[in-house]
Amino acid sequence: MKKRVHNFSAGPATLPVEILEAVESELYDYEGIGSSIIEISHRDKVFKEVASKAEHSVRKLLSISEDYDVIFMQGGATLQFSLIPMNFAHLGEISNFADVGSWSAKAIKEASKICNVNICTSSKEKNYTNIDRISDWNVMENSSLVHYCKNETIQGIRITEEPRFSSYSFVDMSSCLFSEDIDVTKYDFIYACAQKNFGPSGITLVIAKKELLEKSNPDLPNILKYDAHANEGSMLNTPNTFGWYVAGKMFDWYLENGGVAEMEKQSIAKTAMLYDLIDKSNFYVNPVNPEQRSINNVVFTIVNSELEKVFLEEAEKADLRYLKGHRTVGGMRASIYNSMKIESVSALKDFMENFEKNYG
Ligand SMILES: Cc1ncc(COP(=O)(O)O)c(C=O)c1O
Repeated sequence: MKKRVHNFSAGPATLPVEILEAVESELYDYEGIGSSIIEISHRDKVFKEVASKAEHSVRKLLSISEDYDVIFMQGGATLQFSLIPMNFAHLGEISNFADVGSWSAKAIKEASKICNVNICTSSKEKNYTNIDRISDWNVMENSSLVHYCKNETIQGIRITEEPRFSSYSFVDMSSCLFSEDIDVTKYDFIYACAQKNFGPSGITLVIAKKELLEKSNPDLPNILKYDAHANEGSMLNTPNTFGWYVAGKMFDWYLENGGVAEMEKQSIAKTAMLYDLIDKSNFYVNPVNPEQRSINNVVFTIVNSELEKVFLEEAEKADLRYLKGHRTVGGMRASIYNSMKIESVSALKDFMENFEKNYG
């Protein structure tokens, strides 16, 4: 009997057992071709079929029109922090960046090496627990772009408003794409790494307006240019074929399981189980503005912080794994992406209640 724990990892994160089993069964001999899908050329018709089917499925899942390109890239979401200003900072005098958590701060750090940055809002002084409304951001005119992170994975806080800027919007959705029912037409450029909601690390999805990509900085080397990737169908060089193949399976799994609206409903219900418990107790604390709490990453501390080590040790023994908060903020974090089963959240909730009874 193979073992599965309750896996609350922030990413790479848990995947549906059905997907793991399908990959396992196909890995040696893909659909009778006598080779694995990871052993054939990305230009072979069998892989091309896998690749175009994945794009077709994600377009269907998010209702992405032909006005947008869908690109499967490498370099993680982190590469986007550099590529975005490299490709688009020339469109204005300054680039606006929102500082709403650790990932947006990293994006600002990288962009500052490349272009003039205006920090249009910052919640750093509030420990990233409360984000100003978009209408209150100090977005500068004559700017090239506005960048923000929709769900800050480390602080467990999200922005639910849609962007309303005169400049192009660039949004990091690494930890919330497919968990929140978004209207793609409201965004100019969306990106997300795969390892939370759609497969193994090493593949990043970019969904961007074609008319924007056509304005990519022409002086860059091809490998750094978005329009070059788009024009070559994400096959400018050898793509991450394994990641692309698994992503396609995940998109189909979403389509078969109610789509993104259903995922959002389940994400709200799953995380509410923990938020309700935390709010009712005087033992656990979540510092985030309740209206902005993430529906993917639930962060919490224990009032008596000395108990956190014991909590993590006992959780580990109960097969509730990877609950330690990010090394930069401490505390605990339960990452609950789409593949996380409600039974696992329930097991964590029961564990937290018992822990409070024993130590509170
Ligand atoms: C919101 C967000 N942005 C960016 C990243 C960086 O992704 P990668 O490690 O794929 O570069 C992460 C990773 O956890 C993230 O959660």
